[in-house]
Amino acid sequence: MCGIVGYTGKRQAYPIVIDGLKKLEYRGYDSAGVALQTGDAVKVYKKEGKVAALEEFVGEQSTEGTTGIGHTRWATHGEPSDRNAHPHVSKSGNLAMIHNGIIENYASLKNELIKDGYEFHSDTDSEVLLNFIEDIQLNNNCSLEEAIRIALKRVTGAYVILIVSAGQPDTIIAARKGSPLVIGIGNNEHFLGSDASPMLAYTKEVVYINDYELAIVRPDELILKNLGNETITPFVQKLDMELAAIEKGGYDHFMLKEIFEQPTTIADSLRGRLVLNESKIILSGIDIIQEKLLNARRIIIVACGTSWHAGLVAEYVIEELCRINVEVEYASEFRYRNPIITDEDVIIAISQSGETADTLVALERAKEQGATIFGIVNVVGSSIARISHAGCYTHAGPEIGVASTKAYTAQLAVLMLLALKVAKMKGTISEERFVELSQELNSVPEKVEWVLKNEVDNIKAIAYKYKDAHDVLYLGRGYNFPTALEGALKLKEISYIHAEGYPAAEMKHGPIALVDDTLPVVFVATKDVYHEKVISNMQEIKARKGKVIAVVSEGDEITHSIADDIMTVPVLDEVLAPILTVVPLQLLSYYIGVYRGLDVDKPRNLAKSVTVE
Ligand code: F6R
Repeated sequence: MCGIVGYTGKRQAYPIVIDGLKKLEYRGYDSAGVALQTGDAVKVYKKEGKVAALEEFVGEQSTEGTTGIGHTRWATHGEPSDRNAHPHVSKSGNLAMIHNGIIENYASLKNELIKDGYEFHSDTDSEVLLNFIEDIQLNNNCSLEEAIRIALKRVTGAYVILIVSAGQPDTIIAARKGSPLVIGIGNNEHFLGSDASPMLAYTKEVVYINDYELAIVRPDELILKNLGNETITPFVQKLDMELAAIEKGGYDHFMLKEIFEQPTTIADSLRGRLVLNESKIILSGIDIIQEKLLNARRIIIVACGTSWHAGLVAEYVIEELCRINVEVEYASEFRYRNPIITDEDVIIAISQSGETADTLVALERAKEQGATIFGIVNVVGSSIARISHAGCYTHAGPEIGVASTKAYTAQLAVLMLLALKVAKMKGTISEERFVELSQELNSVPEKVEWVLKNEVDNIKAIAYKYKDAHDVLYLGRGYNFPTALEGALKLKEISYIHAEGYPAAEMKHGPIALVDDTLPVVFVATKDVYHEKVISNMQEIKARKGKVIAVVSEGDEITHSIADDIMTVPVLDEVLAPILTVVPLQLLSYYIGVYRGLDVDKPRNLAKSVTVE
């Protein structure tokens, strides 16, 4: 994700930039850095760790300068370290740049530059972009602004960049595509940020920069252009927000913000990997262990909590599409029950934090016994990422709410990609089905967006109706069963209501004894091969006076006529349904927690990263 800040005006830039970085630290805190433009020089300070570590590092050193940029990093390309911290400095030393986003074609640009004799000092895509810009400037003898325009036309991916140059005093050049950029207008001064929080103490007049726009920012002027060099009139808006609110991007809680980020985060997980026009999936981590995977006796998925639920979905999908035997293990149990592991086993570890001790220890043990480890991890450079032989990051951005939401759907997106890729490699999927599922997967962000646009008020009303329940049962069959487990876990965590997930058909073997007119039963009942059987299970609950709340596919009239309350999702292939059906359940838990007056971002007794066994 990364946070970016900039200032040019009459005040000292450093304290403003540092303060802004602290406000954006929720966007990542792997490293922080600033570049200050003074006279005809650019001075850079950067340090691995949080903004506080940068401040300590800078200490008493000179921070003179009224123009500066700053960055707080959430690592994507390259581990968190001083060398990978932003700002990056160009080969000549004249330019310093910060970047939020991912340059997808950085490898080919880097090869071009290496051929021209460039040497790189970091593992980042950002340093490549900066030197690509400088290379264009030098070769074409053009202005920095022109070089940026030419470079950005050749770049694929997402970016916000801020550049200061030794040759251009009091000037910041900024450009955006895909990542956010706000410019605040002060009195003979301008502020730049990933969101408005760094500037809110100084001004409420802001301009939201759009994709493919380039801003030349000086204390007394803001020039906005498109990549075709046409001037655009900035649209100045008045912020109607207080500082406290904007720190969560305007949402009441990080959890709600993260639920609403999912159309973007799922798209980020798929970006550059799902290549529809070539009918292929790029996951370079899989290529590394290709032989092992193709000859694997079985895949063992090891994880905890919500990540374990993602594993359970993957079991259904991988067995169906790849015809490989899959076992899903709670890491804590797997570690201690002396499992039989050989070098023919591939272990997939799933973890948001990459630091969960139960999972980490289980992996260390399995590795010693010869298994191949593939990590699906959100936090770059974390312990599980490092211990894995190969892997794949989920790219969901920092998840701050303790209950996992966007990290889960990103895990599912990556697991779907993995299953499709392996199925294609093994020849266990027809080309027609591969294309069909790829297109459906590509449509998921838009379908999640539909739920967030159309269902929130309805879900709020349902949450209010059931907020005082003592127990809730969650039921689903097939691909919808893991979603029932995840829905129940979310409710437990956020509302402290006892909730249980069960396979819908298994209910009659015991839990049905709980059903009476006080028990709400949530069915995950989207259209799939089990649908009619799930309807029968619903009737069994209704016959015992239980209340049925159902997550259904758009257009499902039959379930409408049976259930007491309905949450609708767009139609989606049953294999992929778990990425979508969990979203209304996240919202239901969130609003029940809010109506019960609880701290949904920091539920009692929980921690974001569980580093004890
Ligand atoms: C639930 C939740 C936890 C985590 C579990 C594993 O909302 O967040 O159940 O999923 O502690 O954590 P990671 O994925 O970091 O290994």
